[in-house]
Amino acid sequence: MSTRHILVAVAWPYAKALQHLGHFAGAYLPPDIFARYHRIAGNAVLMVSGADAHGTPITVAADEDGVEPSSIVEHFHPLMLDQWEQLGIDFDLFTTTMTDNHREVTWELFRGLHDAGLVVSEVTDQYFDPEKQRFLPDRYVEGTCPVCGYPDARGDQCDNCTSTLDPTDLIDPRSTLSGATPELRQTEHWFIDLPGIADELAEWLEGREDWRPHVINWARGFVRSGLQRRAITRDLTWGVPIPPEYDTLGEGKRIYVWFEAVIGYLSAAREWAAGTDDPEAWRRWWNDDAESYYFVGKDNIPFHAVFWPSYLLGYNRADRDRDLNLPTDVPANQYVTFKGEKASTSRGVGTLVLDYLDTFSADQLRFAVARHLPELNDADITEEDLVKVANDELANDWGNLVNRVLTMTRKHFDESVPEPADLDDVDRALLAEVEARLAAEAAAIEAVELRSAVQEALGLARAANAYLNAREPWRTRKDDPVRTGTTLWVALQAIGAGTVAFAPFTPFSVDVLRGWLGLGPVVEGGWQRPEVVAGTPISEPEVLFPKLEVDPA
Ligand code: MF3
Ligand code: ZN
Repeated sequence: MSTRHILVAVAWPYAKALQHLGHFAGAYLPPDIFARYHRIAGNAVLMVSGADAHGTPITVAADEDGVEPSSIVEHFHPLMLDQWEQLGIDFDLFTTTMTDNHREVTWELFRGLHDAGLVVSEVTDQYFDPEKQRFLPDRYVEGTCPVCGYPDARGDQCDNCTSTLDPTDLIDPRSTLSGATPELRQTEHWFIDLPGIADELAEWLEGREDWRPHVINWARGFVRSGLQRRAITRDLTWGVPIPPEYDTLGEGKRIYVWFEAVIGYLSAAREWAAGTDDPEAWRRWWNDDAESYYFVGKDNIPFHAVFWPSYLLGYNRADRDRDLNLPTDVPANQYVTFKGEKASTSRGVGTLVLDYLDTFSADQLRFAVARHLPELNDADITEEDLVKVANDELANDWGNLVNRVLTMTRKHFDESVPEPADLDDVDRALLAEVEARLAAEAAAIEAVELRSAVQEALGLARAANAYLNAREPWRTRKDDPVRTGTTLWVALQAIGAGTVAFAPFTPFSVDVLRGWLGLGPVVEGGWQRPEVVAGTPISEPEVLFPKLEVDPA
């Protein structure tokens, strides 16, 4: 069988802030767990994303600080790289949308869609701020949501009900720059003709089985309710320029951020390949045989389950040699809430994920958050919940198991893995169970059911604990050293399997533990139980997961 090529596409965070715990749970930890599993399983993974450099979130931040938008991006991009490193989020490339490469790839898509007759110009009415004498981008207009009545909906989307909006949909619109009531003025823009792609898109969506119900139902319903043309340029001075031959609609226009940001998945793959021996290598992740998984929060569903697939369909249509693959899956997460409030950088709610590293190790945080991923429903996380998982599950069930078994083995078997005698049914039952757990975990991760994957890893550790309690090596060691050696050998094999099972969640401690056991890097062993070889010296274990205190505040 040929190698599976798996593109792990991760939502591009705006380059104006570091991420909150809600973003980490919603869009960044899940793809890393998924990518780590696939790398261990021997598949070819390309995990890309970057800082989203454009859009009003950036220009608003630049205005507030009195600096150029580019300097906001240049400030935050390295901080983000450092953030991912501290958290163990292991991108193959985390770039920005400010690169020349991204502009070129965006232009290719624009031109391809234009060739297919799907980019057309139209004169529209756009809100204009009479006090500031300028057109207002979507997010500079706020007002009441026509769908749910939320009073602070933004021009592009309602944060409360997630409806995608046009600024002209808002009731009682106001300019966020001056507070003035904006006026409509005429302006000409490029539009993507989504109605011209709608049938093909609907057919493609009908064929998506196994997607999360909330994602596929939303996408199908949205397409069924009738797609409209969408403007893909704006009256702005900050953004990817329009291809020169199409920059004919007047001064001061740029490509709209939501058109070009999703193209980042393709441009990042190309940038990554350009840095290797084979600049064409990106094609292995961008053809009909490749798989692609898009990890986003639920507010990004429209852009990844409807708009981006439409651009790809339209672009492929213009040239029969093109077969850029559409998303295999968009496993969008629901929201994580903290005491009932949505974590959102744009509203300043929630806590920076890096702040949690003052208390938790990266592995403790990753594991505890993975237990609470908002896969199907909104999840409410408190710091207490995270501490409880880190202590009662990660440290008790897994960390203590490791410590007990390694310490006993070192003490009674000359600091090395004992030689086993013949295994009995109880021994074999444990090895069979850990292997079944590994297989079940793999199936869960393949289906992007990461919460249930965590349960399989924990189940593996608990099975090993139950085995030890039944075997009582601390009691048998005086009268029956042969039995005791076999018991500890079996327990060490279960721990070996645990290094694989826990690797996607707790990669830092797994590296350390595999070192103690004389095992090589986890990615080299495949997704299977490694053999912890008899006679191998075992290093003195340290506490992998120190107990955490609940903050009394
Ligand atoms: N920066 C946007 C957000 O945070 C979009 C991210 S995904 C992209 O919501 F693919 F569109 F870039
Ligand atoms: Zn609403």
